[in-house]
Amino acid sequence: MKNIVVFASGSGTNFQAIIDAVEAGQIDARISGLLASKPGIGALERARKHNINTQVLRPSDFDDSSAYEATLLNMLDEWQPNLIVLAGYMLKVPNSVLDRYENKIINIHPSLLPKYGGKGFYGSKVHEAVIANDEEESGCTVHYVTEIYDDGPIIDQIKVPVRDTDDPETLATRVLEQEHKLLPRVIAKLVNNQ
Ligand code: GAR
Repeated sequence: MKNIVVFASGSGTNFQAIIDAVEAGQIDARISGLLASKPGIGALERARKHNINTQVLRPSDFDDSSAYEATLLNMLDEWQPNLIVLAGYMLKVPNSVLDRYENKIINIHPSLLPKYGGKGFYGSKVHEAVIANDEEESGCTVHYVTEIYDDGPIIDQIKVPVRDTDDPETLATRVLEQEHKLLPRVIAKLVNNQ
């Protein structure tokens, strides 16, 4: 059985979409762990409800970055991921993790990359910029994670229209709905082909 490890920082609706697809048999794998970047987030609650292992790792809780990275790598050794999925994870993945899991880490981003990616473009900031620039379409992207934020090779995207009446919240909702389709679809393809 293949193992998926999910990293999250927020409410975890994308994490939930992965859980649902695993439970429905659309993804041929199990979720061996959830890494949370802080305590108290919704994703942790979702993991508990589905008996998924969790760990909270905050860089600021460690003396230095090497102690943090060693703990993160140990945790991953234990969870043995075939694929690591960043589902609303707002921290940078350390290079030591990227090196060990080369081409095995993917991220979902709420824009049509390469547009509206990189530092400063996360969550509602992306949708505010899309609307401010009068874009006719937006969407979501799943890509491989590299050292540079939102820059790795694109695996798949779904587009949505931007309406004249949209505000960042309505656009975010339309994009998020598609994220919940795109992410499980990409994971299923990658895991089932490994
Ligand atoms: C999602 O829209 C995801 O694309 C975005 O955070 C949200 C998390 O929602 N990720 C980024 O902006 C990464 N740069 P969720 O916690 O409900 O899945």
